[in-house]
Amino acid sequence: MTAQFPLPEAERLLASSPSPAHSKPLANKNPGAPLMAYETLLYEKRNGIGYVTVNRPDKLNALNRQVMDDLDDCFCAIKKDDEVRVAILTGAGEKAFVAGADIGELAAQTPLEGKAMAHHGQEILDRIEDLGKPVIAAVNGYALGGGCELALACTLRIAAENARFGQPEVKLGIIPGHAGTQRLARLVGKGRALELILSGEAVTAQEAYRIGLVNQVVPAAELMASVEALAKKIMANAPLAIKFALEAVNYGLEMTQQQGQLLEATLFGLCCTTADMKEGTRAFLEKRPPKFKGQ
Ligand code: COA
Repeated sequence: MTAQFPLPEAERLLASSPSPAHSKPLANKNPGAPLMAYETLLYEKRNGIGYVTVNRPDKLNALNRQVMDDLDDCFCAIKKDDEVRVAILTGAGEKAFVAGADIGELAAQTPLEGKAMAHHGQEILDRIEDLGKPVIAAVNGYALGGGCELALACTLRIAAENARFGQPEVKLGIIPGHAGTQRLARLVGKGRALELILSGEAVTAQEAYRIGLVNQVVPAAELMASVEALAKKIMANAPLAIKFALEAVNYGLEMTQQQGQLLEATLFGLCCTTADMKEGTRAFLEKRPPKFKGQ
C-alpha cells in the first residue's frame, strides 16, 4: 500500500496538538493508535513498518536542533518497539527529503558549539545506522548536506527521479559534520566522495545510482510503493538473521577483514541456535514457505 505524505492521520493529530517546548512526543490523543506525533516529525506505524517523516516543508525539512532531538527520540522508540521490523524515513512535501542542517542555526555558532553540534549529530546518525533493524531512506527531493548524511546513515536508499544529492558545505565555509566525509567515502569510494565534497555540486538521482550512492531510482509517484515493496521483502526473512547480517556488515567494515570474518562466523553460529534457522531450513526441505517468529 502506498503511504500518502504528509500522512493525513498524523497531520490531523498535529493540527490538534499544541507544540511542546521539549523534544518528547506530543501526547497521542488516541491511546493505542499506532501513531505518535513529534514537533517536527510525523510518525506512524503500520503493518510492521515505522514511517518517519521529517516535517518542516516550509524550510525544506532542514535539520534544526529540534528535528535532531525528535529523530533521536523517534528512532530510540523504534529500536525498542518489537512490532516495527523496518523503518522508512522520508521528508514532507514534494520538494525535499532534507535540505541540510539549518543554516540559520549554523550561522550563529561558536567554534565550541559547532564541534558539539557536529558530535551530537554524528551520535544520532550512528544510532540510526546501528538501530538493529533496517532503515530505508525514501529520498523524495533534495538530500543536501546533513540530508545527504542522514540518507547515508540509513541502511538502504531509494530515490525518486527528482531527488538531488550533494554535500554543499564548502560553499558555506564548512565541511560535512555528520560523518559525511566518512560514510560517503566508504559507500562510493574516496575519489567520488571527494569530488562531491570538494565541488559542493549536487548530482541527480541517476548519477547517485551510477556511483552507488542509492540502491534504486524510481518515478516519484512510485517511491513509497517501491520502498514498501523492498521493506516487505526484508520483513519476509528471519528477523534475527536480518539483525545479525546488519551487525556483521556494519561492525565488520570497521575491522580488519580477518576480524570481520571471525565476527561473521560467530554470528553465523549464533543463527544456528535460533528456532528460525530450524524453521527456515525445515520449510525449504518440506517445500513450504517458512513461518519465522524472530526467536
Ligand atoms: N537551512 C535553513 N533553511 C533552509 C535550508 C537550510 N539548509 N534550505 C532551504 N531553506 C529554506 C529557505 O531559506 C527558504 O526559506 P524562506 O522561504 O523562509 O526564505 C525555504 O527553505 C525554501 O528554500 P528556497 O531556497 O527558497 O528553495 P529553492 O527551491 O529556491 O532552492 C535549494 C532549494 C535546496 C537549492 C536551496 O534551498 C538551498 O541551496 N538550500 C541550502 C542547501 C545547503 O546548503 N545545505 C547544506 C547546509 S550545511
